[in-house]
Amino acid sequence: MSAKQVQSGQSKWYKTQLLLKNNTIHPFIPDTRKFTKHNLKQMIHSYGMIYVKPERGTYGNGVIRAERGERQGYAYQYEETLRQFDTFEAFHNSLAKKIGKRSYLVQKGIHLLKHNGRRFDIRVMVQLSPKGVWEATGIIGRLGHPRKIVTNYHSGGKPTAVEQLLSTHLSAQQLMHLKGELNRLGIRIAAQMQKTYPHHRQFGVDIGLDRTLKPWIIEVNMNPDPYIFNQLKDKSMYRRVMRYRRLGLTK
Ligand SMILES: Nc1ncnc2c1ncn2[C@@H]1O[C@H](COP(=O)(O)OP(=O)(O)O)[C@@H](O)[C@H]1O
Ligand SMILES: [Mg+2]
Repeated sequence: MSAKQVQSGQSKWYKTQLLLKNNTIHPFIPDTRKFTKHNLKQMIHSYGMIYVKPERGTYGNGVIRAERGERQGYAYQYEETLRQFDTFEAFHNSLAKKIGKRSYLVQKGIHLLKHNGRRFDIRVMVQLSPKGVWEATGIIGRLGHPRKIVTNYHSGGKPTAVEQLLSTHLSAQQLMHLKGELNRLGIRIAAQMQKTYPHHRQFGVDIGLDRTLKPWIIEVNMNPDPYIFNQLKDKSMYRRVMRYRRLGLTK
């Protein structure tokens, strides 16, 4: 990748704009805006719960979850700290101070499904096959640390088999259907990203499921960690992911 492509690939804003161009992907993207006072106000009042995150972040660092209070007021959580405010002004001032000069986004918050009281989301690994076709080579759940608002491995998240996380939410047949749907969504996303990154061979698509099991695209990772798949007892996905990965490295 050129230096310019590496730069744009780190921007969640830029990648979101690329995906929004595709009408079949559009419905799965949570409303995302740049962090400004105006956008913060609109978004928190429209959605009740939002995520405020760095435009160029990794590992869940700097991610904030903000909510309107039950009757009144506002709150946000950052790492394991919860802060509450009576007015929008105080809430905004505190967030703006925390963010400083960094570029941040505001995104509709997805009420992620839970397993044993912990939030989880799903990573779909999409890689170019030996024949040059996009394939979903791995799917894995990421179970967040109980006191954290992110599911990232580097923030205490635990890679877990999707069967384990979803079995309490749906039947075996529904699960099979959902996995198929997520894999197809991942492949459409990789194909869309390929238009801008023609030499890229793998994408890690992070998908959140809300209480109605609707998938929402949380982030597309340019350099997804293959080793999370090694955390599963069943090594078949890990082996496939690594095999496809080596193929790309030797070219
Ligand atoms: N809009 C959202 N709704 C619910 N959870 C979110 C949202 N955005 C981020 N998260 C949670 O925070 C984690 C980190 O956010 P992400 O945008 O992937 O940033 P990073 O690049 O640091 O991984 C996600 O994996 C997810 O668990
Ligand atoms: Mg992420």
